[in-house]
Amino acid sequence: MSEKIVAPSLLAADFANLQRDIEMVNQSEADWFHLDVMDGVFVPNISFGMPVVKAISKHAKKTLDVHLMIVDPDRYIKTFADLGAHNLTVHYEACNHLHRTLQSIKSEGMKAGVALNPHTSVQLLNDTIQDIDLVCLMSVNPGFGGQSFIENTYQKVAELKDLIAQKNAPTLIEIDGGVNADNAKKLTDAGADVLVAGSFVFKSNDPTATIKGLKERIA
Ligand code: DX5
Ligand code: ZN
Repeated sequence: MSEKIVAPSLLAADFANLQRDIEMVNQSEADWFHLDVMDGVFVPNISFGMPVVKAISKHAKKTLDVHLMIVDPDRYIKTFADLGAHNLTVHYEACNHLHRTLQSIKSEGMKAGVALNPHTSVQLLNDTIQDIDLVCLMSVNPGFGGQSFIENTYQKVAELKDLIAQKNAPTLIEIDGGVNADNAKKLTDAGADVLVAGSFVFKSNDPTATIKGLKERIA
């Protein structure tokens, strides 16, 4: 069984001390950086855009996992590749031609991810799963950090795991939203490969120790 991945979400970092928080993640046992890009249209919030991703990219020494919560993401695939994104995740709900979008992401040398809102069925990926490197199951409604975990997510993880096995697909399962010490192990036991954690890490007293604790819990 391959190692489980922890991806701290910088949305919960201190933006006035971003370099400090990036260095903390660099030095920690975390595996990836999770970057949430929001446009105020697809989701009711605006987070940060290209200049900030560029600044993060300059200092981050681990995989950049970019989660686009934007409409018409095809417009910016090349831009995020040039900024140093390793994984680029688009929302199923934001793509009219998902298959083409996935091919474009891969043609820019990135891993292709698809995020599903809590109301979006895993079964909608039946025809594309073999082309998807990572499925991000939203365990909160996207747009904000610090929300509580939606329990139905466990059921979706199990369904997605079955679909991946059935199609013999190479896809990783990522969980995003409300992840903490109480649900982490249950999620990886259900089949999750990647846990995104924002508030749980950055709002804790000792983020480095929190990351370490999370890694130990799901090892
Ligand atoms: C929500 C974002 C998440 C968010 C998670 O729209 O996609 O990545 O940062 O934050 P927490 O872990 O605080 O729920
Ligand atoms: Zn996210």
